[in-house]
Amino acid sequence: MKSMDRKQFMTLVGTSIGAIVLQHCLSGCKNEKDDPIDPGTGDGDGSSTTGLSLDLSTSAYSSLNTNGGYVYVSGIIVARTSAGAYIAVSQACTHQGVSVQYRSTNNDFYCSAHGSRFSTTGSVLAGPATSALKQYQTELTGTTLRVFE
Ligand code: FES
Repeated sequence: MKSMDRKQFMTLVGTSIGAIVLQHCLSGCKNEKDDPIDPGTGDGDGSSTTGLSLDLSTSAYSSLNTNGGYVYVSGIIVARTSAGAYIAVSQACTHQGVSVQYRSTNNDFYCSAHGSRFSTTGSVLAGPATSALKQYQTELTGTTLRVFE
């Protein structure tokens, strides 16, 4: 009788540990991919064939038709500078993850949470952030803006 109790207990413990391990794996696997877009595998010549394609003729991205406008898409902030160039960096401030804004007058990315500033290529201009935002490439073809690594 006593050994049965122990066996039942061990079965219960084993099941619980299995559930915890499974849950940890699932959440761990989900968090593994921290890149907002698929970097793609490229075709061997250094270029990437994947990424985001934004149709600037649609209302969702209409602000990108104006100098100084910007949008957030898939964890990336895509902006049009006052000179009309398209730039893109990761959206989340590297300090504590608040979304940065593009400021055309300063031509920088600014985090209003604690004042970090980043250049148009994502490098830190002012802390408290110490790490750069990830920079993405952009390519405009007609009204389609491609954003990629
Ligand atoms: S979260 Fe951006 S400066 Fe703190």
